Amino acid sequence: MRLTQEQLEHFDREGYLFFPGQFTPQEMQALTAAVPELYGRREAYNVREKGSDAVRTNFAAHMVSEPFARLARHPRMVRPVMDLFDEEVYMHQFKINGKMAFEGDVWQWHQDYGTWLNDDLMPTERAMNVAIFLDDVNEYNGPLMFIPGSHKKGVVEAKHDLTTTSYPLWTVDNDLIRQLVERAGGKNGGIVSPKGPAGSMILFHSCLVHASTSNLSPWNRVSVYLSLCAVSNHIRRFKRPEFIAHRDFTPIACLPDDCLARPYPVDLPWKDGMPASALATSSDPIDHIRQAA
Ligand code: SIN
Ligand code: MN
Repeated sequence: MRLTQEQLEHFDREGYLFFPGQFTPQEMQALTAAVPELYGRREAYNVREKGSDAVRTNFAAHMVSEPFARLARHPRMVRPVMDLFDEEVYMHQFKINGKMAFEGDVWQWHQDYGTWLNDDLMPTERAMNVAIFLDDVNEYNGPLMFIPGSHKKGVVEAKHDLTTTSYPLWTVDNDLIRQLVERAGGKNGGIVSPKGPAGSMILFHSCLVHASTSNLSPWNRVSVYLSLCAVSNHIRRFKRPEFIAHRDFTPIACLPDDCLARPYPVDLPWKDGMPASALATSSDPIDHIRQAA
């Protein structure tokens, strides 16, 4: 799948691309079916909502689950990002966000690159999210909201919020959000929220400011996010555990386009549990660690 000139221009201007119905219901089946068992595991890689047993985020399913390992190598998700960067990419982060019916909590306004820079020392913004809906997303179940064009601002000021939700995030304050929304058109398009059937895909810039509200509806809003980073732009610090910010910078080798319909073999390195090293962290930059070793 190659991006058209029109799509490239839309991405440059708005900071995102939306592909409704990018995957068929048949392709989604094995992925959706695998989620309850993954969410049921009592493992560090399942982060639950504050004061609830509902899973907010499951990390690194591509290391333990065959359907998700195939999705992580799907050309319809990975190739557009390689095209945009004109470089091979590796998996920086892989998550399945629950946003479960009645329980799914907010994601405050933030840029992903803010966290990747501040926590992981990722050198530049040459990394990108590709999201795929496992459930239908509508206006009631907490769709992602974007401020179009906000990626053009580069890295904006953020503070480390450790208390609002169960997951720490570098968040942008309300005054700046007000300004960015106004600049993007205010009530006329200053916030957009792509909605569509399960199987829809969104690709968005790592500096695009985004958020989502809580899910008070009776419908889950499970979505998968691949965070793909240009190989030359790999992180320089392992301050977060490896299941959150990966340390294997090997370029992704895509499978054929029908890989969600056929059982192509995939490696599952953490199938029998994560190694202790995946939990170890350090505040030293890796160049420093390498020199010291
Ligand atoms: C995120 O920004 O990482 C998640 C937002 C969401 O799933 O709504
Ligand atoms: Mn985000």
